[in-house]
Amino acid sequence: MTDNFDVKLVENAKYYTPDAEYKRTSWIGDYQKTYEKFLSDPDAFWSKIARELEWIRPWDQIREWKYPYARWFLNAQLNITANCLDRHVAGDRRNKVALIWRGEDGKERVYSYQRLLGEVMRFANGLKSLGVKKGDCVCIYMPMVPEQLIAMLACARIGAVHSVVFAGFGTTALNMRINDAEAKVIITADISIRRGKAIPLITIVKEAIDNAPSVEHIVMYRRRKEPPVELRPGREHDFYGLMEGVPADCPAEVMDAEDPLFILYTSGSTGTPKGVVHTCGGYMVGTYYTTKTVFDLKERDIYWCTADPGWITGHSYIVYGPLAVGATVFITEITPDYPDPGSWWKLIEEQQISVFYTAPTAIRTFMKLGEEWPDRYNIGSLRIIGSVGEPLNPEAFEWYYRVIGKSRCPIVDTWWQTETGMQIITTMVGEPMRPGFAGKAIPGVEVDVVNKDGKPVPPGSGGFLVIKKPWPSMLRMVYKNDERYRTYWETIKGCYTAGDLAVKGKDGYIMVIGRADDIIIVSGHNIGTAEVESALVSHHAVAEAAVIGKPDAIKGNAIKAFVILRLGNKASEKLTQDLMYHVRITIGPIAVPHEIEYVDKLPKTRSGKIMRRVLKAKELGMDPGDISTLDE
Ligand code: WT7
Repeated sequence: MTDNFDVKLVENAKYYTPDAEYKRTSWIGDYQKTYEKFLSDPDAFWSKIARELEWIRPWDQIREWKYPYARWFLNAQLNITANCLDRHVAGDRRNKVALIWRGEDGKERVYSYQRLLGEVMRFANGLKSLGVKKGDCVCIYMPMVPEQLIAMLACARIGAVHSVVFAGFGTTALNMRINDAEAKVIITADISIRRGKAIPLITIVKEAIDNAPSVEHIVMYRRRKEPPVELRPGREHDFYGLMEGVPADCPAEVMDAEDPLFILYTSGSTGTPKGVVHTCGGYMVGTYYTTKTVFDLKERDIYWCTADPGWITGHSYIVYGPLAVGATVFITEITPDYPDPGSWWKLIEEQQISVFYTAPTAIRTFMKLGEEWPDRYNIGSLRIIGSVGEPLNPEAFEWYYRVIGKSRCPIVDTWWQTETGMQIITTMVGEPMRPGFAGKAIPGVEVDVVNKDGKPVPPGSGGFLVIKKPWPSMLRMVYKNDERYRTYWETIKGCYTAGDLAVKGKDGYIMVIGRADDIIIVSGHNIGTAEVESALVSHHAVAEAAVIGKPDAIKGNAIKAFVILRLGNKASEKLTQDLMYHVRITIGPIAVPHEIEYVDKLPKTRSGKIMRRVLKAKELGMDPGDISTLDE
């Protein structure tokens, strides 16, 4: 990692101020006042939030911090599903729609809170009949169907620890995750459907358990009638078959606040994936609070987060957070380009979505396709639009704000990680937004930008993004790897190092530049790949860009850019010169790519992150290493 780096700050970037009504009616109220209130008594702040939820036994103490290990809500008892389901069914939301699902074939399924609770309890009893007990690990490898959420909630109901593996992963990745977590049961489907194509998940599962001695049972949800997949009695079970003949009622298991809720694997900058472990109490409080305040969810909202529950975004902001709040959640397996690039806007119009949460990679793809697609539909139901996963560059911000938000909806650009469990930095609804800057710490957490000795950088400079104190939904461990856990807290003594580089604006707004390992040192200057990419993408001809460092005898590294053009633009020597000039005036001469190659596609992970490592290996004729997370 590097010491510090210079960034040409766009301190004169203009602010976008939302209508005063947003602030007046927001849950968070005045950001500054709320933040100060939190700082004056952090325990009282979190205790007040936690008291909005139901606990079987209250806590003796809010938190215990024995560096680098934290515990929250000590000795409290709860069950997260009692808060996500029973609480609403007992109250006024019994008939409220909890979940709307739309299949690629147009099929729609709607669950009220009452019905969802019923399905969860019966499937939970089904799992019990297979011998699944509190503390056992269950692997969920499913397409985006309601049964995926039901399986997760059923595990939580009986205290089983789920490990959801995104259905886009292949055999080796799945096998590694099953074995690391020693999953006893694997829940899957016969097929998943993507852009009209069926992918045989069950076949992948059968290959993946070839060498997985912990697996005792497979449960399969049947989507396809013909030809039916044969199940071996005793060991292989039909999803709905398992729910037959079991009691309708399944009391929620009593969980300690610090009992594990789930394991979720995330790629590390080196080596094998890390099993990030989240616990019941703190995770529930953190995701409940941020869902409610960051999206400012109101009773009437219809909420759509386009992630897959197989990622942390789905865990926190499709399943646990929104259901804890009692929201109406829309999910779909429809991709943004199928059957045509208007599919998502059509869904927003049909479903009257009011809060929409997606990723910059999707936004930039839409930019490339043109405004005419969203313009065909009435998407005026939108009230708040969000972004997550990578920096939302100013150009994409502007487009999202104007074309999707109709210059009216606040954009919440949320920075967080699998490890943080909940959103950490954003611009709270009602506050002035600044393109390129995610915003400030959400009340409840303390962040800063520091140098490698942990000293805060002065406003206007860049450094490492850190979280200064423990927070309720932080990871408690990396499964079976304490050393990797400790690294988060020991890289920069005393605080949690996120691994991202960031710039602290003069106004305290934070601009996340990208991963610390995505830095290229050119002639002694540290240049963020994300920064150069953002500059390229701000050119009208460019849809997407990725840059890598290539060894250079004189400069140390030279920058090479891979560029996807927007429709209607052609690669030419003139355009290459234009782009180089554009980067020169945007960031400065040191950041100008030495080489630009025009491509049709970039290697990406299934979550949409560009795999620069793969580009680099190819460029240098080296082995790309582990590419199990590469899309298609
Ligand atoms: C990394 C975490 C958090 C859910 C999705 C990804 C990058 C995430 C932003 C943002 C700039 C962002 C960071 C972070 N990232 N959100 N709003 N602005 N960068 O979870 O796979 O654990 O990745 O995603 O680099 O460290 P993840």
